Amino acid sequence: METLAALAKRKSVRDYQNRGVEKEKLAAVIAAGRQAPKAGPVQFTVVREAECLKRLNDATLAAMKNSGNEFLVGRASLPGYQPLYGAPVLILVSAPSGPYARDAAAGAVVAMTIAATDLGLGSCYVVSPVLGLAGEPGLTERLALPEGFAPLCGVLLGYPGGDRFSTPAAEAAENVNFV
Ligand SMILES: Cc1cc2nc3c(=O)[nH]c(=O)nc-3n(C[C@H](O)[C@H](O)[C@H](O)COP(=O)(O)O)c2cc1C
Repeated sequence: METLAALAKRKSVRDYQNRGVEKEKLAAVIAAGRQAPKAGPVQFTVVREAECLKRLNDATLAAMKNSGNEFLVGRASLPGYQPLYGAPVLILVSAPSGPYARDAAAGAVVAMTIAATDLGLGSCYVVSPVLGLAGEPGLTERLALPEGFAPLCGVLLGYPGGDRFSTPAAEAAENVNFV
């Protein structure tokens, strides 16, 4: 797929098939993340173990329900809502604290969503698992992050299932101006 076509096609997938991601495709997605602009060190943690994903999913759901944030509580209360959407892979991006750490992590995640689209995979940019990890120190330890690194955001990957929980198409906002 051409890059511009992949950019135009990317959308958040929130329903995944029960099927893993091939090693080569996963490597290509990770390479895209590592190639993104940087502002310091970042760590990519590929979570594939079903039990680990389940624990993180459940901790995230609980954290969303207890967040006191109207939007998050509303999402978590939707029938059948699971914040990891049954995706077989989550790549978390972590970094030491710093003024641009979050920007760099975000850039890497976006690059991975475009690579995933190009490869025929579904993807979803997620921050909610970071909330789940905050309430589960044992799970954070399991990620074996380098000293001083904290998870900032991540991308879910897998083959698209249906269109459950999909984002409604945005109205064409007047959000471009030229000076
Ligand atoms: C910083 C950031 C955090 C996000 N976190 C989540 C998340 O935790 N869960 C989720 O389902 N989508 C998350 N999204 C995806 C957005 O909801 C989605 O990109 C937006 O609704 C537009 O829809 P589209 O990606 O299908 O174009 C996040 C997006 C951004 C940029």
